[in-house]
Amino acid sequence: MSKASVLLGIETSCDDTAAAVLVDGILVSNVVSSQPQHVEFGGVVPEVASRAHEKLLVSVVEDALKQAGIGKNELTGIAVTKGPGLIGSLMVGVSFAKAAALGLNVPFVGVNHLEGHLASLFLSTSPPPFPHLCLIVSGGHTQLMQIDAPGQFKVLGKTRDDAAGEAFDKVGKILGLDYPAGPQIDRLAAHGNRSYHPFPRTRLKGYDYSFSGIKTSVLYYLNSFDETHREELIRNSLADICASFQEAVVDMLISPIKKAVKDTGIRHVGLVGGVSANLRLRSKMHELLQQNKGQLYVPDMAYCMDNAAMIAMAGYFRLENGEQSDLSEIANPSLKLL
Ligand code: KG4
Ligand code: ZN
Repeated sequence: MSKASVLLGIETSCDDTAAAVLVDGILVSNVVSSQPQHVEFGGVVPEVASRAHEKLLVSVVEDALKQAGIGKNELTGIAVTKGPGLIGSLMVGVSFAKAAALGLNVPFVGVNHLEGHLASLFLSTSPPPFPHLCLIVSGGHTQLMQIDAPGQFKVLGKTRDDAAGEAFDKVGKILGLDYPAGPQIDRLAAHGNRSYHPFPRTRLKGYDYSFSGIKTSVLYYLNSFDETHREELIRNSLADICASFQEAVVDMLISPIKKAVKDTGIRHVGLVGGVSANLRLRSKMHELLQQNKGQLYVPDMAYCMDNAAMIAMAGYFRLENGEQSDLSEIANPSLKLL
């Protein structure tokens, strides 16, 4: 029996080269190739990223098709991240998708990366009902949304400066950790004292966020010691500093959600994006929603970080809704969700 929808998803917005295959809305393969080249620079180098995508993309797509047991001629559509992200990186994915769609004579759809993160909740067998609230929290974004239906949402609040993941990565760099530091801080914090140092929490009116202050607070705290004592402190109390910093970030992330749950009465809340992998954030959110008789929805760990499965899912919703892009579609590094 032929399948109604066999979609190839492609994601190249930052430093992960990813492809996935979704058959009738069910994920059948998901391949992500990360680029270790950036570790030595302590962050993503745009030119290095786009060259690596060029080198990797064809083999990543071939792997995804092979793992799915799908021939390229069986594809019925292609979904690709068109923005936001790094212009050179996005262009590699969008050009590939357009050429493949033209060559295979199938429709393609350009997808907003953030809409992909929102769709990652639907890769699970128990997705949230509509309406739900969702916090997109990653290295590039911190944005609280209300989702009324697929593709229908409003932004309740967002960060005015750094994203939460950026704060994890910058503080990690100050503490001598490798990029990206979020997962390491999460692991170290599990054995640390969360009350070791009371880093201040920035709380803004409404649902907006700010994370530049916490990064500066960690820097000032460390600089209040002379070099020898600072090195000793980091050696002996790294887990405690990580736990105290993480607790402050988690409190700041949760505070607007608590207010939004109260104001809107919506008790189904999703967490998506790289930082949604954070165990302390998951556990405190779970606690908050239990107290409010609500429910937390998080993607499986594999779909928290950037991946093409979520892009394929967002593309599936759009194509099923009769939408598609034409060949004039271009990458847009500062694409907005609304
Ligand atoms: O969604 P993502 O893969 O890429 C962006 O679109 O930014 O998110 C990457 C970010 C990085 O800043 C990384 O440090 C952070 O997610 N991250 C975490 C954890 N895992 C990844 N932050 C805190 N705790 C984690 N367990
Ligand atoms: Zn992302």
